[in-house]
Amino acid sequence: MEKFILNFIKTFQPETAHYLTIQLLKNFYFLIKNVDDDPILLSRLGNLELRNPIGLAAGFDKNAEAISAIQRLGFGFIECGTVTPNPQYGNSKPRVFRLQEDRALINRLGFNSKGLERFKTNFNKKNNSNSKVGINIGPNKLSNNFIDDYIFLFKSIYDQSDYITINLSSPNTQGLRDMQKIESLDILTRELKVIKDEKKAKKNVFIKIDPDSSDKDYDNIINIVYKNNINGLIVANTSKGRPQTLRGKFLPQNGGLSGLPIRDLSNKVLSHISRQTKGEKILIGVGGISNGNDIYEKIKLGASAVQLYTALTYDGSSLIQSMKKDLIKFLKDDGFKNVQEAVACKIN
Ligand code: FNR
Repeated sequence: MEKFILNFIKTFQPETAHYLTIQLLKNFYFLIKNVDDDPILLSRLGNLELRNPIGLAAGFDKNAEAISAIQRLGFGFIECGTVTPNPQYGNSKPRVFRLQEDRALINRLGFNSKGLERFKTNFNKKNNSNSKVGINIGPNKLSNNFIDDYIFLFKSIYDQSDYITINLSSPNTQGLRDMQKIESLDILTRELKVIKDEKKAKKNVFIKIDPDSSDKDYDNIINIVYKNNINGLIVANTSKGRPQTLRGKFLPQNGGLSGLPIRDLSNKVLSHISRQTKGEKILIGVGGISNGNDIYEKIKLGASAVQLYTALTYDGSSLIQSMKKDLIKFLKDDGFKNVQEAVACKIN
């Protein structure tokens, strides 16, 4: 049945297909059966326990509209957002493109968001469940001061969220990636630290980085992460690069590339950061995952958990259960008792 619906949805343009998927999930979530996970999949993001290490990446549920349904699909955690302070339309359409032959997408959505107020109303309606829910935040395009936007959002959503992601790496908001530079990053994360230090509940704060920078740039980010007590990094966002292997006709479109063609790039960045941080910072691996082996590889390179998006648009949600099955087999074959034991085993 899901295959039939998925094939029907895929006849629409990607953004319409996404809209239809969110509507279906929102309205028919009670038809999705809850599934239990094998305890071998238990994972940890610092103080946060996950029932499995597979997360839904940011950008799928930008406005926190379908959390209850997504939880039932079997994710260990869900990252909602990116939410911006005020509503904004984003770039003009069309702005998402399928590169079918490459199992990839290019998007230049530009933080289309219904804004913080709507986001919070939706978010507060979610059912309590055993999947954790993080919130990914970003500034408005026309903001006079990106740092002020992050601080405002951080304060507004801190108490509700299981963790918070500071998105500094979307390629579709002009100037955003400059926030990864030492000076701005230091100012921002110092302020976040002050706010967090005043809170009783210590939530994980992650920075989501791009996969297109140099090792030196990553080392600078890591220094600030240590200095201002950021818990970890999400590695990584979509890429501005266009590998020569791409064949899809939408290859010339501007925007961020996701899916299979960015897997190796994202893994390269993950390995570098994993070596530099030696297990002292939490890493979440994202980029190009399309099967259990891809997940296992990121875990072995140092990711405590992973996220995915693009492969779901090609294979649908049945992918989640099949990836879990494969991951369980890989862990057992290698003699690991749980996911944590396998984290960074290729690096150490
Ligand atoms: C994204 N991604 C994204 N990331 C983010 O931090 N905030 C966002 O709002 C979005 N929006 C978004 C929209 C679309 C259509 C796509 C395909 C992606 C990036 C996403 O979370 C992830 O980092 C990349 O897509 C790489 O993972 P996959 O897709 O290769 O599994």
